[in-house]
Amino acid sequence: MPSKLFYEKVYKTEENFEEISDFLYDLNFNNFYFLENDEGKFLVLVSDELKKIAFIEKNLPFKLSFIEQRTTSSDDWIKNIITKPFEFIDGVYVDPDHHNIDAEYVIRIIPGLAFGTGLHATTKLAAEFLKNYLKPGMSVLDLGCGSGILSILSRKLGASYVLGVDNDKIAVEVAQENLELNEVDNVEIRESNLLEKVEGKFDIIVSNIIAEVLIEALNDIEKFLKKDGLVILSGIINSKLDLFKDFDIVDHRRKGEWSSIVIKF
Ligand SMILES: C[S@@+](CC[C@H](N)C(=O)[O-])C[C@H]1O[C@@H](n2cnc3c(N)ncnc32)[C@H](O)[C@@H]1O
Repeated sequence: MPSKLFYEKVYKTEENFEEISDFLYDLNFNNFYFLENDEGKFLVLVSDELKKIAFIEKNLPFKLSFIEQRTTSSDDWIKNIITKPFEFIDGVYVDPDHHNIDAEYVIRIIPGLAFGTGLHATTKLAAEFLKNYLKPGMSVLDLGCGSGILSILSRKLGASYVLGVDNDKIAVEVAQENLELNEVDNVEIRESNLLEKVEGKFDIIVSNIIAEVLIEALNDIEKFLKKDGLVILSGIINSKLDLFKDFDIVDHRRKGEWSSIVIKF
C-alpha cells in the first residue's frame, strides 16, 4: 500500500492517558497515540490537516506542553511505538509485535492512529458480546471499525465473512494494514458513512460509536440484518441509555461509565 504523509504534533503531559482518551473520544477524534519514556509522558495528535489538530488542541481541557511538529508516513507508525502485549478480554490477547503468547486468540494491532487498540472499555464490552454471541459460520458487519480490531476478532472467532466500514480514511488504511498483519481472509474493509456503502444481510452487526450516531444507524439497520440477527452496540455513556428504551434489549453490560447492549428486531 502506498505510504501517505500525515502531520503529528507531540505534547508532553502529566495527565492520565485514559482521561485524555475519553475526552478525544467525546470529540470524535481517534487519530492519536501515547508515548512514555524516561523523559515523560507524551500525547501525539495525528491528522492529514493541521487545522483539525489545532481544533482538538484548543478544545482539550488539559495542560499540554507543545514539544514538536513532525510529518510521518504510515510506514513509520509501528516503528514509533513500543507497547507490551495485554489480555484484551478473557482468552484474547492483543500483541503489537511478534511475542510468543500462549492464548486461545491473539490479535496483532498497530498501536495508535485509529481507535481500537483494545485498551478502551467500549471496545472490550463489544468484544465480550461478540465472544458470547458469535457462532462459527455467521457473517458480521463492523460499523465504525476503527483499527479493525472487532473485525479481526470476529473472523478469529469463526465468522465466515466480515465487512468493516468506517468514515475515517486513516481508520480504513490502518484497518487494512492490521488485516494484513493478522493474515486473515474473508474480511473486507470499506470507507462508508454508516450504512451508505453496505449491501447484504448479516447475522451480527456490531458498532462502537457514540450514542447519538448509533441511534441514527438504528433507523436503517433492520434491512441489513438476517432473520434472528443481533445488533451489538457499545460506546453508550450510561446516562444516554434512555435513548434506546424503545428497542428490544436482550442483554446489557457495563464497565464504569460505559454501557453495551444487544438488540433484537
Ligand atoms: C470508538 S471507535 C470504535 C473503533 C473499534 N470498532 C473499537 O471498537 O475499538 C468509533 C469508530 O467509528 C467511526 N465512525 C464515527 N462516525 C461514523 C460514521 N458516521 N460512519 C462510519 N464510521 C463512523 C470512527 O471513525 C471510529 O473509527
